[in-house]
Amino acid sequence: MKPREIKDGIYWVGAVDWNRRSFHGYSLSHKGTTYNNYLIKDEKIALIDTVAEEFWPTLQCNLAHVLGSDEKIDYFVINHLEPDHAGSLALAVEKYRPEKIYTSPMGQKAMEAHFHYKDWPVEVVPTGTEISLGKRTLHFVEARMLHWPDSMLTYCPEDKIVFTNDAFGQNWATSERFADEVDRAVLERLMGEYYANIVLPYSAVVLKLIASIREMGLAIDTICPDHGLIFRGDDCKWVMDKYVEFAEQKPKNKAVIVYDTMWHSTEKMALATASGLADAGVSVRVMCMKNNHHSDVMSEIFDAAAVVVGSPTHNNTILPLMADMLTYMKGLRPQNKIGAAVGSFGWSGECIKILTKWLEDCNMEVVEGIKVKHVPTHEVLGQCYEQGKAIAAAIKAKIG
Ligand code: FEO
Repeated sequence: MKPREIKDGIYWVGAVDWNRRSFHGYSLSHKGTTYNNYLIKDEKIALIDTVAEEFWPTLQCNLAHVLGSDEKIDYFVINHLEPDHAGSLALAVEKYRPEKIYTSPMGQKAMEAHFHYKDWPVEVVPTGTEISLGKRTLHFVEARMLHWPDSMLTYCPEDKIVFTNDAFGQNWATSERFADEVDRAVLERLMGEYYANIVLPYSAVVLKLIASIREMGLAIDTICPDHGLIFRGDDCKWVMDKYVEFAEQKPKNKAVIVYDTMWHSTEKMALATASGLADAGVSVRVMCMKNNHHSDVMSEIFDAAAVVVGSPTHNNTILPLMADMLTYMKGLRPQNKIGAAVGSFGWSGECIKILTKWLEDCNMEVVEGIKVKHVPTHEVLGQCYEQGKAIAAAIKAKIG
């Protein structure tokens, strides 16, 4: 895929990874991803971020297309040190020998720890720093913990363009480069998945950052993330509004029932609770961990008002696929949820206590759990159905 000029003298020079399926456990919905990076041609030539190391040949080829015979880059700007963006940095430094490498204060520390360099021309650019490329300037804004301590945004006021690194990204390998060139419903779904699985724990940072961008009155007509499609024109407001909506985590009239089951007793209970919820008018998703990836479950949980977790007792604890799910969910810190547990047992019966502790650790408002010895009777399934109705009432009280 050739580079694409996205504004006069500003080029996308990234790589499309059609085959990527996972980022350290976050499953990419079979859509792949892109590693976007950008070249600005001015009196000084600046490269914003790099690509994953295995795409270094692609990046070299793209840069050669744009630079022509004068293969010179004066400045590197490194907005984030995670290897999907900085994986080619050492190779690029060796080839282009830049005059300066600009990064955030925490970026410098991460750069040292990743590359153990001795003589790179690194210059730290805290928030408020401005450099000139000639006709253009670049301004730097630290975005600590969005989603690493080193994360930084780079803004060019002359072109009203901001390079946001992971923020506003989506994992979607496409031949199109702009958000207005693809199906909007798919784009929005993939933005939500990305947010739920990467950005969610840092929602307070998102709200603060967008509020300060708006307070500063920065003129922005192009937002360039390092994954997925680029936003231009009215889409800039659209994506920022969408991020505010994601970050506020206002729950919808929706419940996710996530469970694993040994001999189908817990499954029957989970389905009965789901029926009670659905009959009370709540939109329900039922997801068995044998058939669903934890990141797909998380994509459903993040805008739901309630989460029902189910597991039988197994070796005095819960089934491992549920332990995996709960560990993943707790790390992503979803807010404003109601939680409940169901589960069967044979002899010791710790499942509800353990599941409830996970829900409490996620700060959920807990509705009483239900456990049953071996196989649920019609009466127990009726209790689960009523549990679903009680959760539905709690959802209505919560969301109005
Ligand atoms: Fe896309 Fe935090 O790397």
